Amino acid sequence: MKTLIGVGVGPGDPELVTVKAVRVLRESDVVFVPVMGGPGPESPAAGRAETTIRAHIGPERIRRVAFALNDQGGLTPRRTSAWQAAASEVARAFEAGATTISFGTIGDPNLYSTFSYLAQTVRGMVRGVSVETVPGITAMQDLAARSAGMTGAGTVLAEGGESLVLLPLTGGAGALRDALGQPGTVVGYKLGAAAGPPPEEVRRLLAEAGRLDGAVVGSRLGLEGEDIRPAAELASLPAVPYLSTLIVPARREGVGSGLARPDGGAR
Ligand SMILES: C[S@@+](CC[C@H](N)C(=O)[O-])C[C@H]1O[C@@H](n2cnc3c(N)ncnc32)[C@H](O)[C@@H]1O
Repeated sequence: MKTLIGVGVGPGDPELVTVKAVRVLRESDVVFVPVMGGPGPESPAAGRAETTIRAHIGPERIRRVAFALNDQGGLTPRRTSAWQAAASEVARAFEAGATTISFGTIGDPNLYSTFSYLAQTVRGMVRGVSVETVPGITAMQDLAARSAGMTGAGTVLAEGGESLVLLPLTGGAGALRDALGQPGTVVGYKLGAAAGPPPEEVRRLLAEAGRLDGAVVGSRLGLEGEDIRPAAELASLPAVPYLSTLIVPARREGVGSGLARPDGGAR
């Protein structure tokens, strides 16, 4: 029996790794982690998943695989050949006798994660492999918990009949504007990506939609250089790191207003 398990290890804080994730990582024969694949021969620095995992298990069973994590060009040959190469390493580890292999990934393995590409490629390569995932805490949950929203203790992602839209800001200004036009909560991932609108444009779109109140940005959560600030301050920043998340809370008027909202129905 060969099992490949995508293990979500949260956004960066080692305390936000679940008990199940730690057990699965400890019980795995090999733990693969992604590192930035560079063109040079120098060995890349530990990625965030690895750093988080090393707070819980020793380095002996951890192996790095390179991914074109910084590739901006969509489905590029560089990306697909990195998936092939990583999947071949996983296949070799199974051939060498491993029965349970984990792949550690930041946040959750089913949300914008390299794991889904790896899993599909491994499936095509290793006969009979079973693929599982262990959920992880996402960046939006961490930011919601640690920013001071209208309750004074966290930014509420959704209540009552409100909707929650999650979108990558690499989709451009139009997609963000459309989402802000709806009354529900909007979460923007990949805020600092080069392909997305710059910080001052994001702030302008929020202001135009009347959605600056309570909107918050968290960068490098749980990591060195962490920064959590109101989205209103985005205009003063020339750039934000790629690891930045935006939460724009739903339009709310008083306690329980989300219960009577048209975008869901009362519960
Ligand atoms: C490729 S996605 C990975 C998402 C991840 N699988 C999750 O479940 O949160 C990368 C985006 O996740 C968000 N993100 C992940 N880790 C973060 C962190 N430590 N601080 C802020 N945002 C983070 C950012 O929006 C970043 O651009």
